[in-house]
Amino acid sequence: MFNKEIYVERRQQLMRQVSSGILLFLGNDESPMNYRGNDYLFRQDSTFLYFFGLDEPGLNALIDLDEGVALLFGDDATANDIVWTGPQSSLKEKAEWTGVTDFRPTADLAPYITSALSKQRTLHYLPPYRGEQEVHLHALLGIPVAEIRPKASAAFVKAVVLQRSQKAPEEIAEIEKALAISYATHVFAMQNTKPGMRESEIAGAIEGLALAAGGRLSFPPIFSIHGETLHNHHYGNTIAAGRLIVNDSGAESALHYAADITRTLPANGKFTDQQRAIYDIVLRTQLAAIDAIKPGVYYKEIHLLAATVIAEGLIAAGLMKGNTDDAVAAGAHALFFPHGLGHMMGLDVHDMENFGEKHVGYDETVSRSDQFGLTYLRLARKLRPGFVITVEPGIYFIPKLFELWKSENRHPEFINYDAVEKMLGFGGVRIEDDILVSETGCRVLGQPIPKTIEDVESTMNG
Ligand code: GLY
Ligand code: MN
Repeated sequence: MFNKEIYVERRQQLMRQVSSGILLFLGNDESPMNYRGNDYLFRQDSTFLYFFGLDEPGLNALIDLDEGVALLFGDDATANDIVWTGPQSSLKEKAEWTGVTDFRPTADLAPYITSALSKQRTLHYLPPYRGEQEVHLHALLGIPVAEIRPKASAAFVKAVVLQRSQKAPEEIAEIEKALAISYATHVFAMQNTKPGMRESEIAGAIEGLALAAGGRLSFPPIFSIHGETLHNHHYGNTIAAGRLIVNDSGAESALHYAADITRTLPANGKFTDQQRAIYDIVLRTQLAAIDAIKPGVYYKEIHLLAATVIAEGLIAAGLMKGNTDDAVAAGAHALFFPHGLGHMMGLDVHDMENFGEKHVGYDETVSRSDQFGLTYLRLARKLRPGFVITVEPGIYFIPKLFELWKSENRHPEFINYDAVEKMLGFGGVRIEDDILVSETGCRVLGQPIPKTIEDVESTMNG
């Protein structure tokens, strides 16, 4: 974890944002895979990590705003526990690491809250994203499970989002550690992918490299010859010569800051002319989008700029037709680019999306569109210095979507259906980097990972 001063300062900053009551921080517990004791890899709650830094199950905390104190709740391991787990730090030590002087047994948490509620004090909690958290909140607050999420504290969410959105230098350094591991995994994939291998051979190696480097992955990797399926977590295909492979994978640093990188590779190390043409449009789109990022610009505008470059490229390639701006306004490009340009990134790969994207990526000045494609944009709001965001345009040929649009004759003035039909089976291309919004513009984080056609091919060919 960071030095305790960082957590003390983060909590003090938060205390200035919410006026009164109690802020409750539920740490995560072990989550069984198929029976207790055979658990998923433990992942601490990101907000708990941000404000307390303690990366272990069985901890909860609160900040009593009216008393001006933070309290840590947990239990020391018993001798019987230690037989299974090995030596454990005491609650007192954990409290010291995070700069909390008031630490108490877990059994004291419920009476503290019951007493506060009996005095009509406000208990602020964050919306839960795991069933265990809902059950815990129900037990602590007596609220029916169905009412827990709607009754979460808007003021608490707003204050946490405000603070976590703006990354401090030590957080950028962590993200760059995650990116250093991701550099290694992406270059490994470029150097070792060969026709005839199974996707799982490289997907598994990516995960192993991240673990071996002392981190882990920030989300299940996508490594697929069917890159047209946006979140493809199947690794069972054989990599056929001539296919494109989408590698969307990123590491998490030891302190759990994420990276999220996508590169698209030709299976046999050389793009065909047709692949080059589509790849070139996506690369030009990504570079144009990065070029336009600066504080004060709405990310929705950058998304629409990306859509415009894609539509222009597809019109030039004969796959779309008509006026570019009209096509983008109508949403016709979404046949090929059906997702958003990017999202916030930090302690979560889609940072803070457990609060709901509308609290993270949108605000009172910009609301979510219901147009197909644009509706999947996770981040639309005005960019500010310190935001870390992804830029990940793509072009995909999705047979099912094509069939649907063709059967409904959607946007016939903008789509060359005959030409697009010939592209089915192409797969997809996506290119993604992680960007820090600076005071004046932006910076691509991490060591550059091969991205131009020439650099990808030369890395793949030694
Ligand atoms: N890396 C997967 C995503 O951003 O959705
Ligand atoms: Mn992403």
